[in-house]
Amino acid sequence: MAGAALLLLSAAIAAVCFLPPTTAADQGCASQNLGSSRVFAACTDLPHLSSSLHWTYDRATAALSIAFVAPPAAAEGWVAWAINPTGTGMAGSQALVAFRQADGKMGVKTYNITGYALEESKIAFETSDLAAEYAGGVMRIFGTLKLGMEMTVVSEVWQVGGSVTNGVPDKHAFRTENLESKGKLDLIRGVSSGSGGSVTRERNIHGVLNAVSWGILLPIGAIFARYLKTFHSADPAWFYLHLSCQLTGYIVGVAGWATGLNLGSKSKGVRYTTHRNIGITLFSLATLQVFALFLRPNKDHKYRFYWNIYHHLVGYTVIILGVINVFKGLTILNTAQKWTTAYITVISILGGIALSLEAITWIIVLRRKSRNSTKPYGSNSTVGRHAVQQPLSV
Ligand SMILES: *[C@@H]1O[C@H](CO)[C@@H](O)[C@H](O)[C@H]1NC(C)=O
Repeated sequence: MAGAALLLLSAAIAAVCFLPPTTAADQGCASQNLGSSRVFAACTDLPHLSSSLHWTYDRATAALSIAFVAPPAAAEGWVAWAINPTGTGMAGSQALVAFRQADGKMGVKTYNITGYALEESKIAFETSDLAAEYAGGVMRIFGTLKLGMEMTVVSEVWQVGGSVTNGVPDKHAFRTENLESKGKLDLIRGVSSGSGGSVTRERNIHGVLNAVSWGILLPIGAIFARYLKTFHSADPAWFYLHLSCQLTGYIVGVAGWATGLNLGSKSKGVRYTTHRNIGITLFSLATLQVFALFLRPNKDHKYRFYWNIYHHLVGYTVIILGVINVFKGLTILNTAQKWTTAYITVISILGGIALSLEAITWIIVLRRKSRNSTKPYGSNSTVGRHAVQQPLSV
């Protein structure tokens, strides 16, 4: 027991050491407020022209909603953001350009760019909800583009200019930052840095660790506790099975949690808020659960009843949140369907086992109860009472 306690303590300390350093994620694009109706899943600060891009990509429909934010080169200038489906530079870009229109309002026009002479035209992608704003020295382009399926990494190009003549944006400056304002945008992972491999590996490790710990081991441990208890012969074996399952689950889970924090700090700008918040809640509740073990009152103590209620409440919350977060993670990872199917299968089997054991437990307990009520002073009565309480204590 002392060994287990020591192990727990070191796991908890290790977890605390893994706490994320306060990152710079709160600066730059993440701190830009685009209004409550314009919330995007991800954002990135682009490396040139003080600009940033916010986006939400819907994989199912290949719809990309964006907000491009940049200061124009002069007050009456323009800003542009484009995807180049055929190359990497300006030529061939399918551009959204924002500037003050003839009516004096900000607007967005689309251009199929072939050279410096711009002519408004349709672009290769269907567009909708185009809008522009100019406030606080920055222009913003909003819009939704219907991309080709599987176009998850695109060549982006952005630009700013200082003037518009007769409704046509004039040439931009030719400084280095005007010429280098292009790159690859990975719509799933954020701007790719050319070394996507290690992040992918880390994401997979994160997924496996967490699915096994929070998603599988903890539910199994709960099943041990709830159903083995009914069998007197399994006492105290159930307790040790429960403890080792939850302990292993917790330690592996903390490792998985730490990889998650690390991933979160790497993919600055790409925010999976719900997944992250559930993860942090999970870790806190599970850690609480571990420490509450030390405060567990004696079996006969009058507070033990309340401790049991607490223990069950937090325990089941952790399991439910854990399973939810595994599914959230699977969605984010965008893994092959077979992994989602595999996890659904495992969790359904566990659910099936739990349901049948639940039925068996009730039958056993009710039988025992009726047997005991016919011989109330039987030698078995205390054990019987304990067992009768068991399904009701949840
Ligand atoms: C854009 O212009 C190029 C060159 O003129 C042309 O080949 C292409 O079809 C145009 N794209 C669209 C969407 O109009």
